Amino acid sequence: MSSGGNASSLPLVGGMPEPTIKELSKPGRRAFNYPKLDVPEEVIEHEAIKTEKAPLPEVSEHDLVMHFSRLAHRNFAVDLGFYPLGSCTMKYNPRFADWVASLPGFSNIHPSTPSHLSQGILEILYILEKYLIEITGMDYASFQPPAGASGELTGLLIIKEYLQRKNLNNKKNIIVPDSAHGTNPASAKMAGFNVVEVSTDINGLVDVKELKTLVNDETAGLMLTNPNTGGLFEEEILEISKIIHSVDGLLYYDGANLNAIVGVCRPGDMGFDIVHSNLHKTFATPHGGGGPGSGPVAVKDFLREYLPGPIVEKSDDKFSWYQPKYSIGRMHGYHGNFLVALRALAYMKLLGKEGLDDLGSYAVLNARYLASVISKSLPLAYAKPCMHEFVATVKDLKKSHKIKAYDVGKALLDRGFHSPTIYFPLIVEEALMFEPTETQSVDTLDDLSETISIIIEDLKLNNQNLNTYPKNLPVGRPNELIPAKHLTVNWGDFELLEITE
Ligand SMILES: Cc1ncc(COP(=O)(O)O)c(C=O)c1O
Repeated sequence: MSSGGNASSLPLVGGMPEPTIKELSKPGRRAFNYPKLDVPEEVIEHEAIKTEKAPLPEVSEHDLVMHFSRLAHRNFAVDLGFYPLGSCTMKYNPRFADWVASLPGFSNIHPSTPSHLSQGILEILYILEKYLIEITGMDYASFQPPAGASGELTGLLIIKEYLQRKNLNNKKNIIVPDSAHGTNPASAKMAGFNVVEVSTDINGLVDVKELKTLVNDETAGLMLTNPNTGGLFEEEILEISKIIHSVDGLLYYDGANLNAIVGVCRPGDMGFDIVHSNLHKTFATPHGGGGPGSGPVAVKDFLREYLPGPIVEKSDDKFSWYQPKYSIGRMHGYHGNFLVALRALAYMKLLGKEGLDDLGSYAVLNARYLASVISKSLPLAYAKPCMHEFVATVKDLKKSHKIKAYDVGKALLDRGFHSPTIYFPLIVEEALMFEPTETQSVDTLDDLSETISIIIEDLKLNNQNLNTYPKNLPVGRPNELIPAKHLTVNWGDFELLEITE
């Protein structure tokens, strides 16, 4: 129960504010009854045993189910409507993958089960590793990182350990484009590197001329996502990789945008040495609220012994755990989020080689179509054809009508669409970033574009009421910063701070 608001301050839905589960409580009501005792009763007497009743809500099963179903219906969800969130990729959650992950042999196994009793699990990770290294052009992978950001930190710690073992201790700088996802510089810093920013040129690509001036003996490596966060393919990637390798730096691929290139091209062939893949974005399992995810890190052969261990090995048709010699250590208590990895494998098997080869092409086709129809009402930030996502901007509408990206996002929520990502990438003023993914139909894409054009006309006409959107949702414009900085999960302690400007 965490809508974070005060029930009475929420606009009414269906005429009724939703009471809290505590308010629904009536003494004696139960959602569950234990079966009659069929063994001799044993009374345990110990000073630590509580005598008073725990202050838990007492509700019937039906009241409980209705309460949480009502709350669930107040949320936007990937199964309810289009979620065109650029960069964060909210794609359809294939039921087949969910079904596979729910099979008891997978969902009930304890991660400490010894390898001779969990050969099937190890085999799955082994097969998925083979698929992933084929898709990314790498040689070995570890499934420990539970998300993309954790994959980044893993990759950077690998770079650090590798450079130290080579006595290249002068290499302290990681170059990161100014368009990068915030996790890139944060991960570099956490791994103990200095972050050196390289600019984006007017075409939305890494400024290679500037890059050359930034690279020197202190360069440890470069982090890049390709296509970049503007949705554009870094055409100079082979040149970029040559520049970094010429000073013995390493190239790290942020695989959050792998969706665009699966089956089309491979980071390994572009010159990258380390890749994390966001399985939760590219192969089933849409992620929201930070998890659950899976960000396996794959490396070229020369970095295998630095991977977080243990990793899976196969010999004589048997699978076992192998601890790499110079391993950076663990990035997860066990072996990563196995069920997310399993869903990814199920999705790959469902699509087959042909389907996987089409995945990236369809993702790009959908994004290019959406960009072409949306550009009739919103100018695009870059003229180049996009890959799987694109950035539009309302900077001119802000000047002429005070309309902000935030207003468009909020008005969209009112009309049954989730907002695109807004204010990212940071280098584009009043940015709205759209990513349709490969599974949206052309009808849905047309609906979104038509709705945006209606919204823009409406906001232009009614721009004195801009901050009244959304009008029809339980929560309007909560302050997004305060809950992030001062997390309070107790009901009643939290004030829903509305933005009033
Ligand atoms: C470009 C990019 N890099 C890294 C990440 C971090 O991935 P995660 O959210 O799985 O930690 C994201 C997340 O959306 C992203 O879009």
